[in-house]
Amino acid sequence: MKLVKKISKVTALLRGYRKKRKSIGFVPTMGDFHEGHLSLLRKAKKDNDIVVASIFVNPAQFGPNEDYKKYPMDIKGDTQKASKAGCDILFCPDAGSMYPQGFNTYVEVEEASDIMCGKSRPGHFRGVATICTKLFNIITPTAAYFGQKDYQQAFIIKKMVKDLNIDINIKVLPIVRERSGIALSSRNRYLTDPEIEDAKLLYKALKKARGLITHGEDSVSEVRSAMKSILNKSDVAIDYIDIVCPDTLSKERVVNSRVLVALAVRIGTTRLIDNILVNVKN
Ligand code: PAJ
Repeated sequence: MKLVKKISKVTALLRGYRKKRKSIGFVPTMGDFHEGHLSLLRKAKKDNDIVVASIFVNPAQFGPNEDYKKYPMDIKGDTQKASKAGCDILFCPDAGSMYPQGFNTYVEVEEASDIMCGKSRPGHFRGVATICTKLFNIITPTAAYFGQKDYQQAFIIKKMVKDLNIDINIKVLPIVRERSGIALSSRNRYLTDPEIEDAKLLYKALKKARGLITHGEDSVSEVRSAMKSILNKSDVAIDYIDIVCPDTLSKERVVNSRVLVALAVRIGTTRLIDNILVNVKN
């Protein structure tokens, strides 16, 4: 596996592969790899001739009071894990080369960026859409791989490539969880032992929602209050619990087709998100 830091170097490398008509699978990340990231890399390897992963902690998607400065980094560990998972090129640019002085162009997917996580993280998805556009232009992949863990992010990227006619196949893969049900996330590292116990309640609440809906509960407010009563037993501060159409992210009032149940919470100073897709029996 090659570790490449320079944009010009990765572009030159990939030009060679493109000439040979090799398919390129791309996994954009912020590093600190866990099984969630590695599942994307393995699938990219299965589908493509060449796999590129990027590690770039993108300042443009962090708010002023968020964890940009303390975001976990482990380039050495990541290099080993990525190589084992089938990555061919690990692209790790620095912030100065991605956002040189005078950088002034941003990509914004309207509406979808202002709801759910966008409400409490203004500008976050603008930063994500901008960095993904830049990375897509640098790597020019055949397909790019995202996790359902960040459902809204994947939704926005799919919308962006459609709206801007970017010729990349966006693939979304299932959430990888710990045995306890906690969705793997680099931010789980911030949790103390009692906070980990609280974090388990997220999936418990989502499973409760799934159980109710699959047994015929069609009232969104009933489902939400059942979830709230699970979460309220702890020190979990709810940011949102939304039940939306997976294809539009518009809020449902009655559950009568496939839905996405998504939530964001704060446990101490750590913000966690999770979601579940539920099929409704007719
Ligand atoms: P990061 O949080 O590092 O996540 C990289 C990819 O891994 C995302 O597509 C995310 O959805 C996926 N992922 C994270 N946890 C997962 C889990 N438990 N199961 C499955 N997939 C999981 O998301 C970002 O980085 C950034 O916003 C990025 C897209 C790189 C833009 O900066």
